[in-house]
Amino acid sequence: MKIDFHSGGLGELEVDLLAVSAFEDALAEARPLVAIDEALDGLLTTLREEEGFEAKEDQTLLVHTQGRIKPKRILVIGLGKRQDFLVPETRRYASTAIAVARSCQARSLAATLPAFDALATERATQFLVEGVLLSLYRFDRHLSEERRRPAKLATATVVLPDEYKGVPPHLAASRAQILAEAVVLARDLTNQPANELTPTKLAECAAGIAKDRGLECKILTPREIERSRMRLLLAVAGGSDEEPRFIHLTYRPKGKEKAQRKIVLVGKGVTFDSGGLSLKQTANMVDMKGDMAGAAAVLGAISAVPSLGLKCEVHALIAATENMVSGAAYRVGDIIAGINGKSVEIVNTDAEGRLTMADALCYGVKLKPDELIDVATLTGACMVALGPHTAGVMGTDYTRVEHFMAAARRAGEDMWHLPLPKRLKSQLESPIADLKNSGERWGGALTAGLFLQEFVDEIPWIHVDIAGPSFAEKEWAYMPRGGTGFGVATLVEYLSSRDG
Ligand code: BES
Ligand code: MN
Ligand code: ZN
Repeated sequence: MKIDFHSGGLGELEVDLLAVSAFEDALAEARPLVAIDEALDGLLTTLREEEGFEAKEDQTLLVHTQGRIKPKRILVIGLGKRQDFLVPETRRYASTAIAVARSCQARSLAATLPAFDALATERATQFLVEGVLLSLYRFDRHLSEERRRPAKLATATVVLPDEYKGVPPHLAASRAQILAEAVVLARDLTNQPANELTPTKLAECAAGIAKDRGLECKILTPREIERSRMRLLLAVAGGSDEEPRFIHLTYRPKGKEKAQRKIVLVGKGVTFDSGGLSLKQTANMVDMKGDMAGAAAVLGAISAVPSLGLKCEVHALIAATENMVSGAAYRVGDIIAGINGKSVEIVNTDAEGRLTMADALCYGVKLKPDELIDVATLTGACMVALGPHTAGVMGTDYTRVEHFMAAARRAGEDMWHLPLPKRLKSQLESPIADLKNSGERWGGALTAGLFLQEFVDEIPWIHVDIAGPSFAEKEWAYMPRGGTGFGVATLVEYLSSRDG
């Protein structure tokens, strides 16, 4: 996709589709619809009156210009009230333009930026380009040729306002391209079916990413996993004919100076979760190829780090395995200890994620990082608590969690701070082991978090439960059905802000 910039008159833009944004309140004040060419403005003002266009959120108006001006079609997109519109929502605005561009088979699109102040405009540029790239994504490699309908779009032009300040727009656009590529990588990994993306394959993909981006890469085989005493990971892997892998990627900033911080990212990498002997019902199992979305998010994030030239050292850790059923599967009632020696009584083999994560977190602790961040499709309970689109964030250091939440807001990802109530720890007590792997029904997302906390020592730690937002049940804006790549944008934003 070619990304262009344009400032000045819109009537001269030779494009198949020109998208312009409009705020509801700007209309109410009877100001010109958008600050554009007079001719265009007149046309739109008429249509606004005749077509009852009020610029309500997601309201659109498509006009063919019949050759009166250079743009072939104009699409006016309502953004609702200005004060309710957040800068990251520019991605959604872009997705509306892309949907229309698809349906009219446009090869070229130009889009104005929503009117913000200078700094916001720079960020809006980034979000507009991200929105375009992410909306074009389709997981169509398994469709027969006739059913693949890739968009015809070849160029996207960002129309900059006259008062554009901030970094040169091409920098904002290249950040957007880096991020979109990372999100697409995460989506692709999440969408790949479990018969294709086995733990071994996931490790190969990680090695491929490492090679491409110049990251260090270490992959542990079952023998080495055994030698590292990751018995919890091995227990979960026991029921599968597919071998587990432990993935460790490292980014070290270039240059003589020592990195100022070391951050370890851990992603849940269960390539398929059948539930094990505590077998899931089919309806709950259908999308469980996506149970490695946390791994996808950390791989996506670390893949973007070299191009952004961050100054912190970043590690990505993934305990990759399937959770299956067989004569060798781990059982309910088994007692197993992982790296740090804490014994766990298995009361539900479907609470496997926290076991694999426990070993990965312990491995992370040994790297002595400044902070540990884990991302996992950990609990259905988190979806019950927050709904399907919001991630739950827990952590041992309130200030850090708030920093992380702020990064999520800037990145336009929905996250909410959840507690780790000490009082619920009793749910994880076992008479015969140090811990049980599951508590009672109420507060399931929190007891999962409390379980993980037992494996992070004193390292400041943030846990992100993405069970809901990692996978879209139905298409929405710039997310087609399936893997969303959720988490990548926030991780990249957080790492960038922690850079100094
Ligand atoms: N992978 C699931 C969590 C999940 C559920 C992710 C729905 C995405 C959508 C996890 O391994 C799991 O099965 N959790 C159990 C925990 C329970 C057994 C304590 C759950 O949420 O039911
Ligand atoms: Mn499970
Ligand atoms: Zn799972």
